[in-house]
Amino acid sequence: MVSLKAVQASNAALRSTTSGQVSLFVGATSGIAFHTLTEYARNANRPKVYIVGRNEATLSKVIADLKKINPEGTFLPIKSEISLLKNVDAACDELKSKEKSLDLLLMCPGYLKLSRQGSLHHHLANSTLSAEIRPTKASYRVSIADSIPHHTDNADGLEDTISLRYYVRARFIANLLPLLSSPQTSRIVSIHGAGKEGKMDENDLELARSFSMQSAAVHTSTMNTLALAEIASTHPSISCVHVFPGVVVTKAFTVFAADWVLPLRWFFVHAVLPFAKLFTVSLPESGQRHLFHATSARYPPAEVKDSPAAGVVLQKGMVVAKGEDGLQGSGCYLLNYDGETIGDQKLLDEYRKRGMGKKIWAHTQEVFDRVLSKA
Ligand SMILES: NC(=O)c1ccc[n+]([C@@H]2O[C@H](COP(=O)([O-])OP(=O)(O)OC[C@H]3O[C@@H](n4cnc5c(N)ncnc54)[C@H](OP(=O)(O)O)[C@@H]3O)[C@@H](O)[C@H]2O)c1
Repeated sequence: MVSLKAVQASNAALRSTTSGQVSLFVGATSGIAFHTLTEYARNANRPKVYIVGRNEATLSKVIADLKKINPEGTFLPIKSEISLLKNVDAACDELKSKEKSLDLLLMCPGYLKLSRQGSLHHHLANSTLSAEIRPTKASYRVSIADSIPHHTDNADGLEDTISLRYYVRARFIANLLPLLSSPQTSRIVSIHGAGKEGKMDENDLELARSFSMQSAAVHTSTMNTLALAEIASTHPSISCVHVFPGVVVTKAFTVFAADWVLPLRWFFVHAVLPFAKLFTVSLPESGQRHLFHATSARYPPAEVKDSPAAGVVLQKGMVVAKGEDGLQGSGCYLLNYDGETIGDQKLLDEYRKRGMGKKIWAHTQEVFDRVLSKA
């Protein structure tokens, strides 16, 4: 485990390492990424940060709070409902119209869903979404074992949580590669399910025909890892980091329980979650640790390992981490919440031998083409 003390020392050194970094935060209007953004504002020197959000009032509040923390920072909203890929494109176009390079792309959008239908309805009722994101597919039966009565997708024809956890993030990466390739080094951080990779149904990567929470977690975790490994190997100036944040009690859990009957929901929100907080990673710690993942030279790009371009100089006793291929400093890192590398090396080697990174990226492009040709 990277000690929290070392994490804090590294974060404190960020201010003297870089100045005027340009960053994009996605899914940072609450929870893990919001706390990471807060830590970034606290420790960075004159950062210029774009924050994507779907709710104007939330965005304004987040920006006002960040400005209080770092009056020399520039914090700019990009208002977009990024569940749909065309809206991801619009957000990226807005950024591209203002910036020529990007130092950091950090993403954590998503929510938890047990049933393909229930929580999506709650989610719709509790967001400022336009009608176009409402479920469009006719319901049909899936396996009883999944306990999921209906199949409901967003207007892109993609299951909403799968899209937010993989396709949306991949679209941000694909669109912003030219900007991310411009500085000497840059970093992509996807906070999701490193170490949770597994066997996928390769004939149904989007899980269009079957869905369970478990298969969605495995598919999105594996696709995040394979896509990031592919990007790091083809863009050696970009460090790619996929993190499992541990269990962190966030709004995602409250939304998860939103459809439950009242006594159960009350018990979960007012008894289970506060109790769970005692044993899980706290939001402030999570924010500090993810800032470390996003800025430390412990996770350098493949072609630049020397500080300061590779990140904040290593703390005493710290060494450069091993990449997902088992080689030190190879550019794509799978991290547990505590900054240590994680993952089933045998499984990842097998995927690498089969060229699955390229296959996943090709599949992703096909999904983009199919969805956006109809948009
Ligand atoms: N918390 C955990 O224990 C845990 C564990 C493993 C992985 N994760 C990862 O973290 C993600 C959730 O983050 P969190 O736990 O920090 O939860 P959170 O506090 O609910 O934050 C989720 C972020 O995603 C945004 N978001 C949710 N649905 C969206 C939509 N349809 N369109 C655009 N933005 C949307 C939210 O925006 P609004 O503010 O507008 O709602 C918010 O900024 C999961 O999807 C997963 O990838 C979390």
